[in-house]
Amino acid sequence: MQDSENRYSFSTRAIRAGHRRTNEGEQSEPIFTTSSFVFENAAQAAARFAYQEEGNVYSRFTNPTVRTFEERLASLEGGSSCVATASGMAAILSMCLGLLEAGDHVLTSQSIFGATRLLFANIMSRFGVEFDFVALDDVDAWRRGMRKNTKLLFLETPANPLTELGDIASLAEIARSKNALLAVDNCFCTPALQRPLDLGAHIVIHSATKYLDGQGRCVGGAVVGDEELVGEKVFGILRTAGPSMSPFNAWVFLKGLETLQLRMHAISENATRLAQWLTGQSAVKRVYYPGLEDHPQYELACSQQRASGGIVSFEVNGGRDAAWRLIDATELLSITANLGDVKTTITHPASTTHSRWTEEQRESAGITENLIRISVGLEDINDIMADIRLGD
Ligand SMILES: Cc1ncc(COP(=O)(O)O)c(C=O)c1O
Repeated sequence: MQDSENRYSFSTRAIRAGHRRTNEGEQSEPIFTTSSFVFENAAQAAARFAYQEEGNVYSRFTNPTVRTFEERLASLEGGSSCVATASGMAAILSMCLGLLEAGDHVLTSQSIFGATRLLFANIMSRFGVEFDFVALDDVDAWRRGMRKNTKLLFLETPANPLTELGDIASLAEIARSKNALLAVDNCFCTPALQRPLDLGAHIVIHSATKYLDGQGRCVGGAVVGDEELVGEKVFGILRTAGPSMSPFNAWVFLKGLETLQLRMHAISENATRLAQWLTGQSAVKRVYYPGLEDHPQYELACSQQRASGGIVSFEVNGGRDAAWRLIDATELLSITANLGDVKTTITHPASTTHSRWTEEQRESAGITENLIRISVGLEDINDIMADIRLGD
């Protein structure tokens, strides 16, 4: 099915978009495990290298299985172009290298994944790009933070791990009014629950490692947007610098996309049940989940997302000891830093995903020692709740 067949609904495209059946008549998408492609003659090789003829050359640039994944994800996000990368971090790096240059200023949410912050503050800043960090939910702070040289606004929504929301439409308006770009890491919602491009964003970032795979098997990422920003600029980085996705991983992600919508809604239901249950527990100090009516941005979540997603974070009474005790007492949940798996995972952000931040950075972002993050999966919710021993 070609992407032009946008007349099909989301769930149909998630299963079929991007697949061009070969002469073998395969039902499932083939994995093209080949590093290079063979030309009919020297003239064709020259024409492909000179961009005079379309077609595959080398799998660092394009590969049919990877392209199927790219076309399918682009279709689901509503973008005209997608570049698949070796990891989510490679997607963010490729975006930076493709769209920024020395002297540019980036305004970014302070509530972002730990490695993303380090990439910005410790690596990209060495190449003359300036970064300012603002509170995700404070639209005025974003407006005030804009400078003449602001080229890019970057955020995750909901953010990891405290599930604060960014108002995508308002931030897109701010970006557009100053000729800047808005990039949204859509890892937590996926296009099944939220489509940032529809709300005015220019770029969508994915760690495919998370819900796009959905079963914790492969590391990968993607940048989605239009032909110019992604198809030319970000693709140019991929082609030359080479943070490319492997065909096997692309195939796994394709299989993941087939069930994405079903999983995201079922996971959201489980997560809502868990968040409601945690709210009533005396050993729990605070619960962070956009599906709870007392979440400070509940209304925004309802208007911007189709469901609340699978990440529930909560603070227990006490400090790190209490959080670690609860984590260590689980028998079913996996103690791992990954998220987005059908297997429920439990994490202590302060000592793992955000451990390389300074104490001050963690404090200003609200990553406390008693905070626990759960990525809710698809096990029976009663089994998940029974495994969280709150001691009351
Ligand atoms: C929101 C978010 N963005 C990006 C990444 C980076 O993705 P990857 O681990 O695939 O490089 C992660 C990883 O946990 C993440 O949670």
